[in-house]
Amino acid sequence: MHSHLSCFNAACRARFDIHDILYNCPTCGGLLEAQYDFTGVDAPPLKRTWRERRMDNAPLSQSGVWRYREMFPFLDHLNHVVTLREGNTPLLNAPRAAAYAGLAHVTFKHQGFNPTGSFKDNGMTCGAAQARRLGMKRVACVSTGNTSASMAAYASAGGLDPLIFIPHGNISYGKLAQALEYGAKTFQVEANFDQILALVRVLAERLGIYLLNSINPFRIEGQKSIVIEMMDQRDWRVPDWIVLPGGNLGNVSAFGKGLREMLQVGLIDKLPRLAVVQAHGSSPFYEYMQAKGLTPFRPQGHPETLATAIKIGDPVSWPKAQFEVETSNGVAERATEQEIADAKAVVGQCGIGCEPASAASLAGIRKLTAAGVIDRDADVVAVLTGNVLKDPDYIYRYHTGQLQGPDGTPIQSTFGNKPILVENDADRITELIG
Ligand code: F0G
Repeated sequence: MHSHLSCFNAACRARFDIHDILYNCPTCGGLLEAQYDFTGVDAPPLKRTWRERRMDNAPLSQSGVWRYREMFPFLDHLNHVVTLREGNTPLLNAPRAAAYAGLAHVTFKHQGFNPTGSFKDNGMTCGAAQARRLGMKRVACVSTGNTSASMAAYASAGGLDPLIFIPHGNISYGKLAQALEYGAKTFQVEANFDQILALVRVLAERLGIYLLNSINPFRIEGQKSIVIEMMDQRDWRVPDWIVLPGGNLGNVSAFGKGLREMLQVGLIDKLPRLAVVQAHGSSPFYEYMQAKGLTPFRPQGHPETLATAIKIGDPVSWPKAQFEVETSNGVAERATEQEIADAKAVVGQCGIGCEPASAASLAGIRKLTAAGVIDRDADVVAVLTGNVLKDPDYIYRYHTGQLQGPDGTPIQSTFGNKPILVENDADRITELIG
């Protein structure tokens, strides 16, 4: 099937070869996306094929990304694929979280069950495949932690050299540890995410390194599989809402594109509404959407949040995100540090757990339900983007009442669960157990 790269800017739409190493449109500077000719794609046999692959032990069938490869047919040869059996993430019911958020029912799509513990693996397996197909040797990214952990793993598994650039002191140790363990050359740079992205783009150009940030259109192709798998798991029943956290806004762009393409080929019969939730101190997209086109997009120079994964002031994919949120009749929301921390503890109390940025989903739903935007009886899927163990330091501080916001404001440990320090004494412990 024919595939090509296309400029996302509606006024340009320039086309480029799928083998071109491009991150922005050379004509207008716009974002790029992969495009396919889906004519002749028939939904019912495709659904059957995908179900059959679940029973098949072939590595590509076992991957919760490549199982759905007919929806992102950009490779000529599948031998370029590097798979760690990514995807295959569960849909989990969480009555306690639903009650907290003011809903009758909520389902979590937990991307933290991925091989490196975040949704980045869904995209990285495609980005790494494209790097190999192009014959690239070195790959690079700037990251708030999860992209780097994922890229390090996929590059090393696929025989590529990973180079990682992270904002010094601003990523969790769990994520930094993964990058080191998976063998990436890791640079801790004294600058924030947005500044380092500009730096890495210069280095990629100068040194011929393949860039694997979410500006890379093939990452976005892989992340579409999150919503494809979600619909497959729901027997193609479309929810009313899909809610997810927003940082660089690649994921919401991927969800929107994947959903539109599923509608186009008849896999689903309507679009769900997308709600993207940012952290209060790092919410340029929320502010832009609130202004309803009256002001231009304004990056934030000094984004702040303890949810370091989404501490991004100048998200590259905002034009795509705007298009997808508007096309789906969706919304943008934001949540405070306290709201994120409490929502995260509630996800934990469900026996599920997630990292801070992921909890923005539940915190956002709670606000949107209270505001009457989401109905109490709505069918809502909240995406949890990262694993609970990504940031244990945050958890310990919250439960012991030591967590402070970026400006030093104490975060209340509303659902705190302090460990009990006790002497080695059965009677005393019996007394404490009660
Ligand atoms: N949740 C988590 C856990 C993330 O790591 C990220 C992004 C997001 C949400 C936001 O997704 O950028 O597509 O809007 N992390 C990137 C990184 C930026 O470098 O790992 P987005």
